[in-house]
Amino acid sequence: KETVVSGIRPTGKLHLGNYFGAVTNFVKMQYDYNCYFFIADLHSLTTHPTPQDLHGYVRHVLVEYLACGIDPEETTIYIQSDVPEVAELYLYLNMNAYMGELERSTSFKDKVRSQPDNVNAGLLTYPTLMAADILIHKATKVPVGKDQEQHLEFTRTFGNRFNRLYNSDYFPEPFAFNYAQNLVKIPGLDGTGKMSKSSGDGNCIYLSDSPEIIRKKLSRAVTDSGPSAENQTKPEAIQNLFDLMKIVSSEDTLTHFDELYNKMSIRYGDFKKQLAEDMIVFNTPIRERIEELSKNSSYLRQVAKHGALKARESAQRTIKEVRQLIGFKSF
Ligand code: TYM
Repeated sequence: KETVVSGIRPTGKLHLGNYFGAVTNFVKMQYDYNCYFFIADLHSLTTHPTPQDLHGYVRHVLVEYLACGIDPEETTIYIQSDVPEVAELYLYLNMNAYMGELERSTSFKDKVRSQPDNVNAGLLTYPTLMAADILIHKATKVPVGKDQEQHLEFTRTFGNRFNRLYNSDYFPEPFAFNYAQNLVKIPGLDGTGKMSKSSGDGNCIYLSDSPEIIRKKLSRAVTDSGPSAENQTKPEAIQNLFDLMKIVSSEDTLTHFDELYNKMSIRYGDFKKQLAEDMIVFNTPIRERIEELSKNSSYLRQVAKHGALKARESAQRTIKEVRQLIGFKSF
């Protein structure tokens, strides 16, 4: 079986972007591959969370993984910081990761722009930590959203460079994966880019949002003044809402509103109400499981412990071989 690795940063609750970009693939892949799904708490340290927030979000993501259907019997679910071998591999990979290439990373450049007062070394070397996550289990498939594509390129570069340096073919090449042909980018509600925590709560529908909150967020979602004869292609904000409808609503519903749009008789109020109701139908079973699982601390503890053991077993195997290749040998 091929090995699969993916992770999510515990920087908040999971939203539809995380679900349709990543988690839905995790759930499907667990039966066909040897899977490792983790909570990237080391990565989230770049934003300096308080210990309480960090712990709370790690717990929340663990609950959400389980609520979405990731089965700890089928896969290895673990918390990144429970596997110190990852940090060790990160150190080795950093020796062959160059400033110039790291500075050219789009997500690094975005961060330099958006948080100029916190451009720390962890941000710069984010791609090497991510490469360590993937290479530590020698994974070949990485289910992620479109925004992670460049990070996968970095991972291949660092793995290949390590192989060349030590004259081996030790690390296989990992590729971003989605069951659909293309990697996805789920839009947000504010009419511009993708759904993301950093663009504000109003832009995101969380898996744990109540029906009232979903209705309220949708009623505020950005539209425009309506279709017009000279504007045949949908403007971005409207297209985004149609894209969201495509993932949560039935085909009939989508066709219905598409036809109304084309006839210029669509009423955005009705359209957004329908979208909200379909989102509620989608997230209700997950939200209920989140509420149930949140109460079960002893089960969560058991899952995290069991996962850490399994993940470390695999990571220790790799680190032992990597140390040999590097030349750390016992006398
Ligand atoms: P993160 O925590 O930002 O996001 C987690 C996953 O959700 C996907 N995603 C989206 N997909 C589609 N549309 C969206 N609007 C959307 N928003 C988020 C992301 O693509 C990602 O798959 N660097 C990673 C975490 C990470 C990782 C790894 C992933 C650390 N190490 C190793 C894979 C393998 C990140 O920040 O994702």
